[in-house]
Amino acid sequence: MLGRLRELGRDATAALKSAASVVELESIRVKYLGRKSELNQVSRGLKDLDPEERRSVGRAVNELKNELGALLEQSKERLESAGEPSSGLDLTLPGRMPWVGKKHPVTRTYERLESIFGGLGFDVALGPHVEDDFHNFDALNIPPEHPARDGWDTFYIDDDSLLRTHTSPVQIRVMESRTPPIRIIAPGRAYRNETPDASHGSEFFQLEGLYVDRGVRFGELKGVLIRFMRELFGTDVGLRFRAGFFPFTEPSTEVDVECQVCHGSGCSVCSGTGWVELLGAGMVDPRVFEAVGYDPEEFTGYAFGLGVDRICMMMTGTDDIRLFLENDLRFLRQI
Ligand code: DAH
Repeated sequence: MLGRLRELGRDATAALKSAASVVELESIRVKYLGRKSELNQVSRGLKDLDPEERRSVGRAVNELKNELGALLEQSKERLESAGEPSSGLDLTLPGRMPWVGKKHPVTRTYERLESIFGGLGFDVALGPHVEDDFHNFDALNIPPEHPARDGWDTFYIDDDSLLRTHTSPVQIRVMESRTPPIRIIAPGRAYRNETPDASHGSEFFQLEGLYVDRGVRFGELKGVLIRFMRELFGTDVGLRFRAGFFPFTEPSTEVDVECQVCHGSGCSVCSGTGWVELLGAGMVDPRVFEAVGYDPEEFTGYAFGLGVDRICMMMTGTDDIRLFLENDLRFLRQI
């Protein structure tokens, strides 16, 4: 019995001295000193030995337990001072970053636009998404039955209410409730009964602008738009003003920007033309002033409407407008 204890002592000492990790040390402890270890069994069997043997074996067992216990402590210290933490928790591993959410790219684009126009003196105005015929069409010089209405494929809710097809009705609401000078932008969603494709959605984002005062001229409109687009895309960006038609402005213009995705060589975003239409604009039509009770002889003004998702596509190099509403994090995280 004593010989076996010596053998066990030798094996356990060698194992403890060569342990290379705290985890290994723990399994050695279980093997030689744990509840099911041979040493423990000997310890428990002591009571069955005759008194003489019980004394000598008992002493040897105790000595061995103390010896191995001390050695275990030493080995633990050795491993810990060599950088091996005791709990198996490695404090030197890089931390796991919690994922922090970000604003949606369209929201960030709106914030950028609001900051640029804010710097040019424009306040933000908001209007309802469910509009009536008067604000969405009639007051904007688009009478019932007029073919111009075909340009806005409308979702009607009932005979008189509809989902606004553009942000232009906010112009009307602001003019109805204030007197000039007025200088506002109206950000928000608009809705059209359109089959969605890479550049059209049935729900999309616009930003309306309106400036009304005495003696406002077309040159000011042009200046503000050029200033805005240079601020957004850089001073050397290519811009194109084309004559256009809108019932609520006269004269009207459509403004294109050199495609920021392909820089003019032609891609799917600009349908191979190198240009992307970003906005419509013009001098407020006198009929619109009459509809809100302003005297067109006294006041003049300009208005513009921007396609915000188009701008966001340019700024982020996104080639499909539908991605902005799908809210797939795999896409959003890339931006
Ligand atoms: N409301 C027009 C549209 O959705 C865009 C627009 C064009 C707005 C000219 C304007 C403007 O204010 O002057 O197609």
